[in-house]
Amino acid sequence: MSTQQDKIKELVERRAAARLGGGQKRIDAQHQKGKLTARERLDLLLDEGSFEEFDMFVQHHCTNFGMDRSRYDGDGVVTGMGTIDGRLVYVFAQDFTVNGGSMSETMAQKICKVMDMAVRNGAPFIGINDSGGARIQEGINSLAGYGEIFERNILASGVIPQISGIFGPCAGGAVYSPALTDFTVMIKDTSYMFLTGPSVVKTVTGEVVTQEELGGAGVHATKSGVAHFAAENEEEGLETIKALLSFLPSNNREQAPFAETSDPAGRVCDNLNEIIPDNPTKPYDMYQVIGSIVDDGAFLEVHQSWAKNIIVGFAHMNGRSTGIVANQPKVLAGVLDINSSRKAARFVRFCDAFNIPLVTLVDVPGFLCGTQQEYGGIISHGVKLLYAYGEATVPKVTVTLRKSYGGAHITMGCKQLRGDINYAWPSANIAVMGAEGAVEILYSKEIQAIEDPVEQARMTEEKKSEYNDLFCNPYNAARYGFIDDIIEPRNTRFRIIRALEQLAGKKQTNPWKKHDNQPL
Ligand code: HXC
Repeated sequence: MSTQQDKIKELVERRAAARLGGGQKRIDAQHQKGKLTARERLDLLLDEGSFEEFDMFVQHHCTNFGMDRSRYDGDGVVTGMGTIDGRLVYVFAQDFTVNGGSMSETMAQKICKVMDMAVRNGAPFIGINDSGGARIQEGINSLAGYGEIFERNILASGVIPQISGIFGPCAGGAVYSPALTDFTVMIKDTSYMFLTGPSVVKTVTGEVVTQEELGGAGVHATKSGVAHFAAENEEEGLETIKALLSFLPSNNREQAPFAETSDPAGRVCDNLNEIIPDNPTKPYDMYQVIGSIVDDGAFLEVHQSWAKNIIVGFAHMNGRSTGIVANQPKVLAGVLDINSSRKAARFVRFCDAFNIPLVTLVDVPGFLCGTQQEYGGIISHGVKLLYAYGEATVPKVTVTLRKSYGGAHITMGCKQLRGDINYAWPSANIAVMGAEGAVEILYSKEIQAIEDPVEQARMTEEKKSEYNDLFCNPYNAARYGFIDDIIEPRNTRFRIIRALEQLAGKKQTNPWKKHDNQPL
C-alpha cells in the first residue's frame, strides 16, 4: 500500500508531466517557431505566483481515429485564475503542443468553466489563442464546444471585459470567439486568423495566397480591422493586454481604476493656441492635441493602423480613465468613411458599456461621398457611430477644434445626441457644409448668369465671405446654446478635466427595451 508520501510524490510527478503538454520535442518545435508555450505566456501575463490552475488532469473522451492513444492531461489548454497588477482575472491559454491546440469537447468545457467564473465573480476574461480550430477527430462534439463558448462570449459582452490574444495560427472555429470579444491582440509574423487556410482557399476559389497575406497581423491590423493591436513579439503582446486592462473596470458595475498622476490638472497647453493653421485646408496632427491634454502625454491607441482618419484610444484625465475619439485632419482631412465610422462606433459602445467617459475632439469636413462609399453602405455604417453616441449614457465632453459640418457634426457627440458639455475653440466652424459647397448650391445659377469672369469670381468670393461670416465661427452655434462655451485652446486640458469631474456622478438611463435594433 502506498504511503502518504508516495501519494504526494505521484501528484508532483503527474503535475510535472501535465506541465509538459505534448512533450519536450513539441515544446522545442514551438520555441523554434519563435513562439512561447501556453504556460510561459501565462507566466509573463500574470503577477508572479498568482496563477491557480484548474482542470489540469482533464482528458478528452474521443476514441475516433486512434485518439484513445493520444491523450494528454489538460487536453491542450491551460485554464485558471490569477491577478494582473493585483486585480483578479480569469484566463485560458491554448497549448499548441497538444494536437495543435485544436478544440475538443473537453477543452471547451474547461474554457467555459473559467468564463462562467469570470462572469459570476465580475472579473475580466483573457484568452490566449493558438489553435488549428475544431479538433477534426471529434466532429460535432468539437463544434458544439465552440457553440458553448460563443454563447458565453455573447452573454458576457458588456458585463466583463473580454480580451483575446492571437498568438499563433487561429483557423476555422478558433477565430469566431476572439471576434466576439472586445479586443484582439495579434503578434506580427507568427499569428494568423482566417476562416479557412490557404490550401482550402486555393481549392475553393483558385486564389493562391500565403498565410501572412490571408490573415497575418499586418492584414488584420491595417485592412480588415479584425485586430485592435499588432505587437512586435509575444512579450509586447502580453504587455499590451496588461496596459489595456489598466484602463478598464473589472466589470460593468465598477469604475476603472484611478491612476495617480503628478501632471497638474490646471496645466495650460500654450502650444494649442498655435496649432490650427490659418489656411483651413491645411492639416495639423491631432496626436499633438491628444498628447498635450492627457495625463503625462500617455495614450494607448486602439486600431492604430486601421482607418487612420479617426483616432480612438484610452488615456487618463487627472487620473480618470477616459475614452478619446478624435478626427485626424492629417489623414483624408479627417473625413468619416465606412471604416472610421465602424471603428469609432465600436469604441464608443465599449466605453459606454464599461462606464468610461468619452472625450471627443472634432475636426471633420463631413462624410465621404461617392459611389465607392455609397455602394459599400456608408449610410448604414455611418449611422452606427451616430447611434453609438446617441445611446451612450456615460459622461460625454466634446471639443470642436475646427470644422464640424453636416451629418458628421451631428454624429460626433453634438449637443442633440446628449453631449453633456460641448466646447468649441475660436477656430471652430459649425455649419451644414463648407463655404465652397454652400455657394455652389445656393448661387451657381446666379453666378453662371454673369458673363464677365472677373465679376463672376468677385461675386463667388463675396458670397463665400458672407457665408463664412455667418457660419465659419463657433458663435452662431453658441448663440443657440449648442455650444456651452468657447474656450481658449490652451485651457483645453483644464476645462475637460473640470467637466469630467462635474459629470462623475452623472446618472442617465435609456427607455426599457429587450434590446435595441442598432444598424449592424
Ligand atoms: C486536430 C490538428 C488540427 C485540427 C492541427 N492539428 N490542426 N488536429 N484537429 N483542427 C494537429 C496536427 O495534426 C499536428 O499533429 C499538430 O496539430 C500540429 O499541426 P501542424 O500542421 O504540424 O502545425 P503547423 O505546420 O504549424 O500548421 C498549423 C495549422 C495547420 C496552420 C493550424 O495544422 C492547419 O491548417 N490545421 C487545420 C486548420 C483548419 O482548417 N481548421 C479548421 C477546422 S474546421 P501532430 O500529431 O502531427 O503533432 C473548424 C470549423 C469550426 O474549425 C466552426 C465552429 C463554428
